[in-house]
Amino acid sequence: MQRQKLGGLKSKFLKEIKESQNEKALYDAKVKYIGRQGELTKILKNLKNLPAEERKTIGSLANRARKDLETAYENRKKEISEQIDWEEEKIDVTLPGERNEIGSLHPITIVRREIERIFTSMGFEIADGPEVELEKYNFDSLNFPQDHPARDMQDTFWVKSEKSKLVLRTHTSPVQVRFMEKNKPPFRVIVPGRVFRNEATDATHEHTLHQFEALVAGEDINVGHFKHITQEFFSQFFGKKTAIRLRPSFFPFTEPSFEFDISCAVCAGKGCPACKNGGWLEIGGAGMVNQNVFVASGYPRNKYQGFAWGFGLERLAMMKYKIDDIRLFQSGDLRFIKQF
Ligand code: FA5
Repeated sequence: MQRQKLGGLKSKFLKEIKESQNEKALYDAKVKYIGRQGELTKILKNLKNLPAEERKTIGSLANRARKDLETAYENRKKEISEQIDWEEEKIDVTLPGERNEIGSLHPITIVRREIERIFTSMGFEIADGPEVELEKYNFDSLNFPQDHPARDMQDTFWVKSEKSKLVLRTHTSPVQVRFMEKNKPPFRVIVPGRVFRNEATDATHEHTLHQFEALVAGEDINVGHFKHITQEFFSQFFGKKTAIRLRPSFFPFTEPSFEFDISCAVCAGKGCPACKNGGWLEIGGAGMVNQNVFVASGYPRNKYQGFAWGFGLERLAMMKYKIDDIRLFQSGDLRFIKQF
């Protein structure tokens, strides 16, 4: 019985290795018969359960079969290796390897992280708010009267909704009120985030952009604090003294209000597409917090003072890296992105 089985195994194995066309197939056949769990190995392992007489004959037959199989395997291996066309298999080790592409951070992310680093080092917290915002936070509680033309200054994407009036937030200022509803002065906070405006794009305007809001409030916060912190920020961010220009402006949520310009770094103030040939680029709006905003946030009137600003991240990045067209940031152009 065992003898027949051995004979069968041997011829099956020889057939399989003859049909093996490559080393892998050959090796698999070897494992199947004489590997640790192989069929022939099992017979050898089972010898101890056979009657003494049979153990002897089957044992020597099985060992011989094992040797024959190993020899057959080695011979076939040699044959296969002789069939390989080594000319074709040759590897040119001097060829350059395949490079693993490693991505890099988008310039807006780099700038946002740098801003967060500077402000946290000055004791600021970082807050966040929703991109789809209630009209109440985007406009009403920021002291925009209903139907006031100031609502049109920020061309708005309205979101269709049954329950409440929703907008894609046009600025990061709504987070001022959201933050104040949950916190009491004194505090300093920045809010970096994405905002949306329904406007025609050009070299300095995008429909989807980033701002970062700052809000500092307490009982004795004044314009001096505002000036010091902005100067500190600009000198750290640009690594050198930067010429700043403040122009009087209007925002319903600040009083007085300013528009903040910096000298164009792309052309050193001479005039180029990035500053529309004016030599200055508007970076953001700022001002002392209007008391109506404190009241809308649940604070008593005239108890606290504070300042706030909203700066454009793309425009700051344009100045830092001397980029003359804002549309490059979202162009998906790898030649642009790979430079960072
Ligand atoms: C505002 O958005 C106010 N919320 C800023 C503010 C905050 C004022 C707190 C007072 C107190 P403004 O619409 O000017 O302001 O936008 C601020 C900045 O965002 C601009 O100076 C500019 O840097 C950037 N910005 C605005 N619209 C665009 C746009 N379409 N493309 C690129 N950057 C823009």
